[in-house]
Amino acid sequence: MTATHAPAAPLSAHASGPLTGRVRPPGDKSVSHRSMIFGLLAVGETKIEGLLEGEDVLRTAQAARQLGARVVRHAPGSWSVWGVGLGSLLQPVETLDFGNAGTGSRLMMGVVAGHPIVARFDGDASLRKRPMKRILDPLTLQGAQVLEQAEGGRLPLVLQGASEPLPVEYKTPVASAQIKSAVLLCGLNSPGRTVVIEAEASRDHTEKMLAHFGAKVASELYGAHGRKITLEGRPELVARPVRVPADPSSAAFPVVAALITPGSDIVVEGVMTNPLRSGLLTTLQEMGADITLDNMREEGGEEVADVRARFSSLSGVDVPAERAPSMIDEYPILAVAASFAKGETRMRGLSELRVKESDRLAAIAAGLKANGVDCEIVGDDLIVRGGPVKGSGVVETHLDHRIAMSFLVMGLAASNKVTVDDETMIATSFPSFRPLMEGLGARFS
Ligand code: S3P
Repeated sequence: MTATHAPAAPLSAHASGPLTGRVRPPGDKSVSHRSMIFGLLAVGETKIEGLLEGEDVLRTAQAARQLGARVVRHAPGSWSVWGVGLGSLLQPVETLDFGNAGTGSRLMMGVVAGHPIVARFDGDASLRKRPMKRILDPLTLQGAQVLEQAEGGRLPLVLQGASEPLPVEYKTPVASAQIKSAVLLCGLNSPGRTVVIEAEASRDHTEKMLAHFGAKVASELYGAHGRKITLEGRPELVARPVRVPADPSSAAFPVVAALITPGSDIVVEGVMTNPLRSGLLTTLQEMGADITLDNMREEGGEEVADVRARFSSLSGVDVPAERAPSMIDEYPILAVAASFAKGETRMRGLSELRVKESDRLAAIAAGLKANGVDCEIVGDDLIVRGGPVKGSGVVETHLDHRIAMSFLVMGLAASNKVTVDDETMIATSFPSFRPLMEGLGARFS
């Protein structure tokens, strides 16, 4: 399935009674992709529990198979990967087709770039629009070659990996865990030391998993908000069990739904609270949200908690640009929360939203306007002026799962129904979204 997808399926969300109950969202997408990739690179059996079985991760699992891994599903969420070991990847015969998955494709480019193989990468219409030059630039410095690429450094592209990746020190031009991870994954097979510097810290799952699988990796603070990561090349990666915590980016949908739907009181269980992922919770609490974290514990090397969210009277806030990396995927649902808040919310420094699964900045603003919400884009900031939300709009989702889920949440508390033009992409990250939300009391048709 290249550059095509299932026929569009519209879905509407209707004003719903109080949302109540306890739910556990699926496994974290970032950790799930990485568990497949590290499973491929390690020797032995990597057992994974709680894997997100969304389409994006299944694409990465398929690519791992094409590069030589044996990947087996035992039961829902329970998988094993038998890797080929660092340096021993197979030359893939067919195109590695990542569908909608930016993370899978970009991290796997790093893996391929560090091995003496040639691979063709492709994806759907959304992924074909997304910039890959930001990944190819450092990988080329490390010794990989781009043999073919679509205009502007886009998919489909053919990458020839280096037989001996060069050790580099690379400063990422934007805060991006995907760029950082691609460089580190390529550097794994370098005989020297790879250093990545980021001015704003991005999610650190790759660093955590490198250490978990036995690599020598160090992370130190860099400037006011940044990190410097140093990786020693050619470690012996040993298979280790991975337990995937619930995805905070998916948990965000029921949490915001409860905050804006009168009378609601829900608990979302086992949510990862890694500080580099929890910017949304901080922001919602600043807005006056009644959110508490209970039963805080550690699962699989990550902090997790049960998140209780109750209907709240929210107020607009100013969200600083430096918080963006810790909530980069949560702006669509934050914009929905802001639509129901009193006063103005200004979300600063959102340029990266323009290169996600869609131009999310434009898609959010268009969806808000279609439903009668007063908003504007000023430079890279989004300003939302909240109040009662009229609804009755049809939202264009542009193959973007988070746009679809965010506006369906809006419909649960708007005066009229909210319709999204296509709900099929929700399966990329949160296949159980609809039944999970219906279990809490949400009404869709
Ligand atoms: C991800 C990093 C983020 C995020 C994406 C997942 C990851 O992208 O938007 O959904 O797993 O590394 P950037 O780091 O490029 O901002």
